Amino acid sequence: MIDTVARPTPMVEMSRIYKHFGGLHAVEDVSVDLYPGEVVGVLGHNGAGKSCLMQILSGALAASDGQIFVNGEEITLTSPQDARKYGIETIYQTLALANHLDAAANLFLGRELKTRFGNLDDARMFAEAKAALRQLNPNFTNLKDPVSCLSGGQRQVIAIARAIYFQAKVLIMDEPTAALGPSETAMVSNLTLRLKDEGIGIFLISHDMHDVFDLCDRVVVMNKGRNVGSFRIEDVNKDDVLSLIIKGTLPDDWTPRGTTK
Ligand SMILES: Nc1ncnc2c1ncn2[C@@H]1O[C@H](COP(=O)(O)OP(=O)(O)OP(=O)(O)O)[C@@H](O)[C@H]1O
Ligand SMILES: [Mg+2]
Repeated sequence: MIDTVARPTPMVEMSRIYKHFGGLHAVEDVSVDLYPGEVVGVLGHNGAGKSCLMQILSGALAASDGQIFVNGEEITLTSPQDARKYGIETIYQTLALANHLDAAANLFLGRELKTRFGNLDDARMFAEAKAALRQLNPNFTNLKDPVSCLSGGQRQVIAIARAIYFQAKVLIMDEPTAALGPSETAMVSNLTLRLKDEGIGIFLISHDMHDVFDLCDRVVVMNKGRNVGSFRIEDVNKDDVLSLIIKGTLPDDWTPRGTTK
């Protein structure tokens, strides 16, 4: 018998992805993968290509080249709706919600619940939204107000509730706390860990080293469109990660941190 060690299949694998805008190489031969219950940090300077890479996975941007696999099967994404079919949802830093609508309308935006007569089922959407939001944050109030009246943290709770309600398997969080204050940042970080505990795989774009080292299992560092390093978080420290972000290389004297206990 041939002795083979079965390697688990990643829930997402992006392989040799390129994205060019004319002569600008925003993403250049980047490969990343993600397993259930993992938080993978996607790090890099402004303009490194993080959002472009993740927008390719969210179906918002077409890659110039490369392949995407979900549970080992190659898929083609031509829209965010396509990505959602595979359980891929995105949460943005800009707290992208429809400002004039309330929490329930935002939670179900584009995926409204209907009665059997085909009308909007406002009562059910309200009840479901209330349950989903309160489960994440028992203090969630203002359910009937337009979300423009809500705090940044409450708005992110709606975005996270939406992902959970629609059973996201893969969550892309593009600087989810960049527009939040410290206590709201802590709340969103806690929610991120709860999502991870439920087996959701998360790509987290973040500039916050504290969050990165608190939340991530692995990090991928991008520099000028390229993946300049993928590490388990225990194998690197903040200086290593900063060096990769700034110079695109590890410090000259680097040895794997995890091996020297
Ligand atoms: N739609 C677009 N058209 C042309 N160039 C673009 C477009 N989107 C992004 N770019 C360029 O691609 C490069 C990578 O951008 P990207 O938004 O992925 O960076 P980022 O790593 O997310 O940066 P930040 O930390 O500032 O969000 C940048 O040079 C950016 O100007
Ligand atoms: Mg970005």
